[in-house]
Amino acid sequence: MRREENNLARKILIAGNWKMNGLSGQLEEVRKISEGCSATVGEVDILVCPPATLLRTVRDAAHSDLLVGAQNCHAKEKGAHTGDISAEMLRDAGASHVIVGHSERRADHSECCATVRSKLEAAHRAGLVAIVCIGETLEEREAGEALSVLERQLENSLHDDVTAGNTIIAYEPIWAIGTGKTASAGDVAEVHSHLRRRLVERFGQEIGTSLRLLYGGSVQPTNAASLLSVADVDGALVGGASLKAQDFLAICEAARNCR
Ligand code: PGA
Repeated sequence: MRREENNLARKILIAGNWKMNGLSGQLEEVRKISEGCSATVGEVDILVCPPATLLRTVRDAAHSDLLVGAQNCHAKEKGAHTGDISAEMLRDAGASHVIVGHSERRADHSECCATVRSKLEAAHRAGLVAIVCIGETLEEREAGEALSVLERQLENSLHDDVTAGNTIIAYEPIWAIGTGKTASAGDVAEVHSHLRRRLVERFGQEIGTSLRLLYGGSVQPTNAASLLSVADVDGALVGGASLKAQDFLAICEAARNCR
């Protein structure tokens, strides 16, 4: 089943994850994205997630329709956690969204699903929409374990009060992140329909079918149209290509044409 035959109530989201890139003197790309997306933004949600140091600057520089989010948060609201940033602080700095459980945080900071879940709870406490990332390693895929690994991550990273208004899921196969290798449309379709079934089983038909499922991992202008046409792919989480306005806008345009 292709996307147009599927649930069109789920608006496509194109989210840019800048990771640890960006300085205050380099906001030209944001301005270009902000100007360039004005035609698309009614039909496609567009989000940029700069490093926390730039949240306020990007929020102030961007068109109000452009969504701005963060890449991580601490589970607690405040306290003795040197160097950490709470979800409330991110919101205060202009974020409406936050990514939790990105595989780079799971790997670099040993974040397990229980940690991700507590960050998800923190995001909701602060009124942020959370993008919860899950993804399998190459070894797990080759061992035929991808679906069971993803199912476990999905189960353990989400709490029971998830809704389409407060949570978005991103499937990001770890072997596809920053490698130029993309999962095939067939593999993405298999994973997303499996995740959709699990979401419906756990949260019921209404919430399960309205939660958005993004794909991430080497999404580029050249492959965006085919990935975004897959049923149950409701958008993309874009790393490298989100740093160049021209590429990011081309992905947004591909999303618009998928509707
Ligand atoms: P990539 O990163 O597009 O550079 O592969 C995606 C991500 O990590 O969110």
